[in-house]
Parts: sequence; structure tokens; C-alpha cells
Amino acid sequence: MEKIIIDGGVKLKGEVPVSGAKNAALPIMAASILSPGQSSIANIPQLRDITTMGDLLTRLGIGFQAEGGRVSLNTENISSVEAQYDLVRTMRASVLVLGPLLARMGEAIISLPGGCAIGARPINLHVMGLNKMGAEITLSEGYIKVRAKRLKGANIYFDIPTVTGTENIMMAAALADGVTVIENAACEPEVVDLADALISMGAEIQGAGTNVIKIKGKDSLRPLDYKIIPDRIEAGTFVVAAGITRGEVRIKDCNSGHMDAVIDKLSQAGVKIDQEKDALTVKGPDMLKPVDIRTTPYPGFPTDMQAQFMALMAVSHGTSLITENIFENRFMHVAEMRRMGADIKVEGATATVRGGKALKGAPVMATDLRASASLVLAGLAAEGTTVIDRVYHLDRGYQRIEEKLKPLGAKITRVK
Ligand code: EPU
Repeated sequence: MEKIIIDGGVKLKGEVPVSGAKNAALPIMAASILSPGQSSIANIPQLRDITTMGDLLTRLGIGFQAEGGRVSLNTENISSVEAQYDLVRTMRASVLVLGPLLARMGEAIISLPGGCAIGARPINLHVMGLNKMGAEITLSEGYIKVRAKRLKGANIYFDIPTVTGTENIMMAAALADGVTVIENAACEPEVVDLADALISMGAEIQGAGTNVIKIKGKDSLRPLDYKIIPDRIEAGTFVVAAGITRGEVRIKDCNSGHMDAVIDKLSQAGVKIDQEKDALTVKGPDMLKPVDIRTTPYPGFPTDMQAQFMALMAVSHGTSLITENIFENRFMHVAEMRRMGADIKVEGATATVRGGKALKGAPVMATDLRASASLVLAGLAAEGTTVIDRVYHLDRGYQRIEEKLKPLGAKITRVK
């Protein structure tokens, strides 16, 4: 197993590029299923989750090729409609093939994802939506089977705004009979990117980016030729890296318009951020101020930045409250940060972070994707050496993070 070793205490300096957004690339790859033909998608990040989605699409009979930041998909023939347990349990986003398979093939069989490190994460809302569109649903031996000759447009209300749920329904509705309206839809930029990709395929979609999305179904769609938006979470992670090391970093190829909540909270903490449309110039302060955050659906503060923000608050001068409202178990990084000397107490959904003490390097373990990113950040700020085990979590969502941090001066290496 690979480990990452960091000698902390170096102020990061220089320029770093942001890759394409994982959470936009995954649904847009799944959307290729909707149209038989040759699809091409650019600005795809090179990540383990992308490889997993490629494996899943290959098993469905799709020709999949990845080269550099581009993937080509030959979706002429689909020979299987099943997403098997071994893939779904390694990546829950596998569930994104449910809507498009059902819409194109009239059937999909998906292993039900179990719970995951950050929470129970059920898919009841995806299933409820498809059921309202006329799909017959059965559950057997851990697999959910959905069937419908042709889906019908429906009014679907989500109790909770769900990102992949909204995406599944949007994809299914793009080939359904009539109009589908999703109320309390997720507003995340990745949902908008999927809508834009579907529109480029000929779909008729209004309201993406608001909480009411209207989709008028079509009889057929064109293959994809599309470029993915920049990853706002990778960009946010680099903003924290600059802030926590008191460095000076220019983050390029990002979309700063997708990062308002993160930019606002980091600015309140004293991090100086100059904002251009596609770049951020960040200067860390000598003394970080404590700031409270609450994670909420977009445009609120993203749960995917909560762990990284906690690393920053661990070295701020004062006490901050961090409340996690999206996932019930997303504080696994706390125990690891404590091993580095952080003073953090968790009660229910709120962590009280008492900053002011220097972090000390220690051996720590990555427990999920964003938790591992927070440990890299803590390691960059800490005195001494931090060794992070189980870095495969990190590789799910960050394209060779050590190769992006090294040119900024970070003393970071990957070892077997
Ligand atoms: N929920 C339900 N029922 C459902 C669906 C969701 O109760 O049928 C609940 C979840 O348990 C959670 C809340 O609704 O409490 C929101 O979950 P959501 O469905 O929005 O999450 P997701 O679609 O499974 C995506 C991202 C996550 C990100 C969340 C929240 C992808 C592939 N994944 O997950 O990304 O944290 O939205 O923004 O888009 C990550 O990249 O590290 C990551 C975990």
C-alpha cells in the first residue's frame, strides 16, 4: 500500500492548475449511455473513480478509452444492464447508470450500495422518482431492478435535495414521454454541468442551477462532445493549502464563480484572496482567525470542504464551530487530527475546534476522500513529519496531489 510523507512547515509559493470536476465527469460519462454512437468528453481528471466508472461502462458493453484528459465512449451496443456489487461498493456513484440505462434499455439492475464511511447514504429518492415516472421496482438479493418500456414525465418532489438523485432523474427524463418537473432539486454546479451536457445532446432542460428543474423528454439524443467544468473542491483544497502554510499561491484553470461560500469563509479567516473568473491568487495571513461554518447544499458551504476547513481552523487563533448537516458520520478526520495535536471536540453534528496550538507531524490514516485531503493539509502546516496511510482514498478524487504540491515547494513524497 502507498503512503504519503510530508515534512511540514514550508510556505507554499507558485502556481497550480485545477483539473476537471470528478463529480461532473462521473454523471456526464454515465449520460453517454443515453445515445448510441461515439461520445467524447474532455477535461476528465485522472482519478481512480474515473477508472472505476470506465470499468463499469466497459462491463455494460461500451467501448471505453482514456487518453490524457479525454475519454472516448462507443455506446453503439449495450450488452448488459447490470452494475455489479464489486464496483458499486467501491464507488457509490456507480448508481448514476441507473437512470440512463433504464431510459435507453427499458431496464437496469443495480447492486444497492450499502452504507459508507461518511454515512448511510440511501438511494430511496432516486428510486421514488423513477417509480413516479412509471418504472416497476423490485428488490432481490441486494440488487434493485427497475423496468419500464418507456418512462413517463412526472412531478417529483425531493424531501432532501440530492445531487446524484437529481442527476439520475434528469438523465431518465431526457428520454421520457412528456415533461418531468423536479422540485427541491439540487443546485450544485455539477448538476448544471450535466444539464448543459444533456442540452448539447439535444435535451430540453430548464432551471438547472435552481431548485425547480423542468425536462421535456425527447425520442432520441445525439452523442456527447463536451468539456467538463473545473473541480471546485480541488481548487478549494489548494486555497486552504496556501492559507494554512501562510504561502502565496495562484490557483489557475478554476471557476471562482462556483466557490463563493468557500472564498467568503476563508476571507473571514484572514486569507487574502484575489478573484478572477478562472484564477484565484491566495495569500495566507500570519495569524488565522476562527470562523464558524455550517455545511449545507449549494450555494452553502460544501460538505466536501468541511474536513479541509477544519484543518485550517485547527491552527487558527481561537475557537470555531463546524457543523456538518449533510452526512451523519463525516468527522472521521477528527481522531486523526487529534493525533497531530489538534484540540477538537465533537458533540452530535458539531465540532468545536480550539486552535492556537501548532500541529505536530504524526503517522495518520486516511479514512475517506476529503478526510485524506484534510490530513495532507494538516501535514503541510505541521512541525515535523506526517505519514499518511491508505492514500488510495486520496487518489479517488485528487489527481496526483503530491505532483501538484511539489512545484509549490511542499516536501511531499509518495512511497510504496
Ligand atoms: N439522501 C437520502 N436519500 C437519497 C439520496 C440522498 O436520504 O435517495 C440523503 C443523503 O444520505 C445525504 C443527503 O441526502 O444526507 C445528500 O446526499 P446526496 O444524494 O446529495 O449525495 P450524493 O449525490 O450521494 C454527491 C457527491 C458527494 C457529495 C454530496 C453532497 C457525487 C458523485 N458525489 O453525493 O461527493 O458529498 O453529493 O454534496 O456527486 C466527494 O466527492 O467526496 C463526495 C462524497
